[in-house]
Amino acid sequence: MKKITVVGSSNTDMVVKSKRLPLPGETIGGGAFLMNPGGKGANQAVATARLGAKTVFVAKTGNDVFGRKSISTFENEGIDTRFVSSDSTEPSGVALIMVDDHGENSIVVAPGANAKLLPEDIEKAKEEISTSEILLMQLEIPMPAVEAAAQIAYASGVKVVLNPAPVQVLSAELLSKLYLITPNRGEAELLSGIKITGLESAEKAARAIAAKGVQNVIITLGSEGSFILDNGEAYLVKAYEVETVDTTGAGDTFNGAICSALVEGKSMREAVNFASKASAIVVTRMGAQSSIPTRREVDHFKK
Ligand code: RIB
Ligand code: NA
Repeated sequence: MKKITVVGSSNTDMVVKSKRLPLPGETIGGGAFLMNPGGKGANQAVATARLGAKTVFVAKTGNDVFGRKSISTFENEGIDTRFVSSDSTEPSGVALIMVDDHGENSIVVAPGANAKLLPEDIEKAKEEISTSEILLMQLEIPMPAVEAAAQIAYASGVKVVLNPAPVQVLSAELLSKLYLITPNRGEAELLSGIKITGLESAEKAARAIAAKGVQNVIITLGSEGSFILDNGEAYLVKAYEVETVDTTGAGDTFNGAICSALVEGKSMREAVNFASKASAIVVTRMGAQSSIPTRREVDHFKK
């Protein structure tokens, strides 16, 4: 079975629901509290595994309760955790998340041990990365780790997929190794220098990013859908309309779903449609990992 290696962050999410997000200096009464595993890397790994792909996760947690809980969650999902190591000096990553009545969120991440994921940790997973079909990454870990993993994958002809979140400056060298990049609107604007106000400017932005050496570009536009540049061919894949409860983890699920569909041999268009269904389900539920659907749920999703 073809496998996906995900390299990235793992956090514990502390989520509070409230009518609206507080202003600076303001205290407001909130609603329900939920603690569940999160982190963009871990969410993406859980998504690929739940959607049916053999998944290896490379990450760093703290040597604490949160880290151990995350690892046992990954194991329950059937994820290969041999390369999830623990750091003895830093706590596990934590994200404080507030979600308002419209499902809009504000997130602050304390990276903790995620910031200790180094090229030498990536090197240990070299064999797994170079024998994967896809390497999937985000940017909640140090850039040298991202670059080291991309280098190993690229040298072995493994497809490198990067979800550039939270957005950072990307080196020309890293960009040239990417099979696919999946920015959201704001990230695409920063990467391309082009303001996205409609489909025309989305295409311009996608082409500007592709011109940096990236083979395929997907700009996620929330409820408007996803703008795709698929080996030079541009098209839009519509999003499914659902009632939004909490958007946390939607982007991560989208990325994981695309990769799990691609390793099954689906076309880019089919993969994006599959991923749109998966992320439509996620936004109807609270939490990140707790809201990621199973393969069965996506296959039975009707709209
Ligand atoms: O993308 C959502 C994730 O971002 C949350 O799970 C949180 O941990 C932050 O990393
Ligand atoms: Na969610």
